[in-house]
Amino acid sequence: MTSEPAFDQLRTASPFDAASAELERQGWTVLPPQALEAGVRAALARFGTIVPQYNGEDTWEVKVKPGFEKLPYSQSSNGIGPHTEVPVGDPPPRYLALHCHRQARCGQGHTSLADGAAFCRSLDAKLQKYVHDVPVQFAATLKPGGAYRQMLSAPILSRESGRPIFRFSFNQFRYGDVNPSEAALNDASRQPDTDNPLVRLATLAAAYFESDAQPVLIPDGHLLIWDNHRLFHARSTFSDPARHLTRYWLHSS
Ligand SMILES: [Fe+2]
Repeated sequence: MTSEPAFDQLRTASPFDAASAELERQGWTVLPPQALEAGVRAALARFGTIVPQYNGEDTWEVKVKPGFEKLPYSQSSNGIGPHTEVPVGDPPPRYLALHCHRQARCGQGHTSLADGAAFCRSLDAKLQKYVHDVPVQFAATLKPGGAYRQMLSAPILSRESGRPIFRFSFNQFRYGDVNPSEAALNDASRQPDTDNPLVRLATLAAAYFESDAQPVLIPDGHLLIWDNHRLFHARSTFSDPARHLTRYWLHSS
């Protein structure tokens, strides 16, 4: 019986070096299953420290569950508009990772990625000034319809500890919360305030994703990791209820 050499035994740590270089260059990279032979956590330790999520656990299952059928939520099969993860974080997690156990077989369920600073440069002068100068009250209910809400006031594009951080939430700018309730969705659908700069930014970001985002359909067994301070992401609608990924948040070390 023959066996594949362990990922690290191929050429010491060079494949991880290549992944780190790609992550630095384009803001995202995909690790193949052979990079994960020592475990997803061991692979992620090369990029940062895993931190707890909204549920207090260090993993979150991105899988369709009952109760979220009408919501743009991770545990629904609906599309989710452009956003960064945990805009209420101070700081938000540096990296996000999705480990794909089973990708949707319907051909949808893409994770799309785009550069936040490039999006900001595409805006008119007034909106560019807005994203740099005006603090936005970010608000995230832990679960749609829940009582506890995390808040943070920060400009959409800021510099913290000498590095840029981009925060964005289509859901909040359009519906009032990172995880909007069904009632909030219905209210906002009836009365979109097109004079509100946040509503305009949400609309422009959706259009920007149509033309400029990189759609990634993570293959089974692979791990997508990206810089959450630099890129924003979105998800396309899918119909296969067996799609299953595990999400990780990392702080950089
Ligand atoms: Fe997300």
